[in-house]
Amino acid sequence: MSGSVSDAAGFVRAAARRDIDAAVPLGVVLPDGRRVCLVRDGETVYAVADRCPHRDFAISGGDVVAPCVLECPWHGAHFDVRTGAVLSGPCTDDLVTYAVQIAGGDVLVGPRRA
Ligand code: FES
Repeated sequence: MSGSVSDAAGFVRAAARRDIDAAVPLGVVLPDGRRVCLVRDGETVYAVADRCPHRDFAISGGDVVAPCVLECPWHGAHFDVRTGAVLSGPCTDDLVTYAVQIAGGDVLVGPRRA
């Protein structure tokens, strides 16, 4: 699969799985322009919009402070990357999440989930 072509279900290559450190979110720009933050938990990768709903700043510079919990680097909100749910403020809105598939060593990001 090419990195610039989506398949019939709309999945596009976002990164190599080996490029995602378990403790460090990875911000990527998809070929269609979406800015996505990838977070790995073991062999599973989650994709959320790289945009904190609090002030629309990028969240990929944040930290993974617990398994599947991403902390926004700007004002410290916590989110569950599995569902996008906000766990603590000041943000009150959930993150947008995207479907993810793993194909070989590649991480593919698909349609919006929530
Ligand atoms: S921009 Fe994320 S908590 Fe403020």
